[in-house]
Amino acid sequence: METPTLHVSTHPAVAHKLGILRDETTEPKKFREVVRELSWLLGYEALADARLRPIKVRTPLETMDGHELGDRIGLVPILRAGLGMVDAMLELMPTAQVWHLGLFRDERTLRPVEYYNKLPTSASVDLCLILDPMLATGGSATAAIEVLKRWGAVQPVRIKLVNLIAAPEGVAAVSKAHPDVEIYTAALDRQLNDKGYIMPGLGDAGDRQFGTGSEG
Ligand code: PRP
Ligand code: URA
Repeated sequence: METPTLHVSTHPAVAHKLGILRDETTEPKKFREVVRELSWLLGYEALADARLRPIKVRTPLETMDGHELGDRIGLVPILRAGLGMVDAMLELMPTAQVWHLGLFRDERTLRPVEYYNKLPTSASVDLCLILDPMLATGGSATAAIEVLKRWGAVQPVRIKLVNLIAAPEGVAAVSKAHPDVEIYTAALDRQLNDKGYIMPGLGDAGDRQFGTGSEG
């Protein structure tokens, strides 16, 4: 089924780096490096329709009409795995605020459990980017979007989800519950396995970044 809110990157550099990320022999140091590089590339794509504000720029030769990013942006990394995406996004959007949201997936029920929330008291941005490398069942992403909407991130505030790998099940769940949220991903994989892992995927994104184990 066609999902108009889904954007799967077609850039060769993204495909190349994704191959390194998926490779089971890629060590945590390299894995973190590639998460960062992919985040930069996906952030670039997710910002393609960001609003600009006109400014005057003085070059060494003359003054010209230039631009700066006009949208006020909030980055919402989902702990833990989303942490690895923050630095690259801040390079792209240096004035963005970062609001950490702690969610882990209960291994038995696969339902998200919230354990940390560092949202400010009021929603004072135009665009929220939720950062999480993996969109599996969609439970964590849906919970994060609901937290943001309850908090006040409703139209005209836009919410975008930035993932590195998405499963069709997760895309379907998010787009059904939140058809206003656009999803940017480097890849749309085949399916989930019976433990809720994305196939072929890359295993556990948090464990692979932080060297805490492996699962599949
Ligand atoms: C992973 C991943 C997502 C979630 C995706 O986090 O980073 O947050 O699972 O699964 P879902 O779409 O089925 O909810 P995890 O719960 O393993 O926590 P971690 O980042 O601390 O490792
Ligand atoms: N979380 C991960 O880190 N990997 C998956 O494949 C699914 C959920």
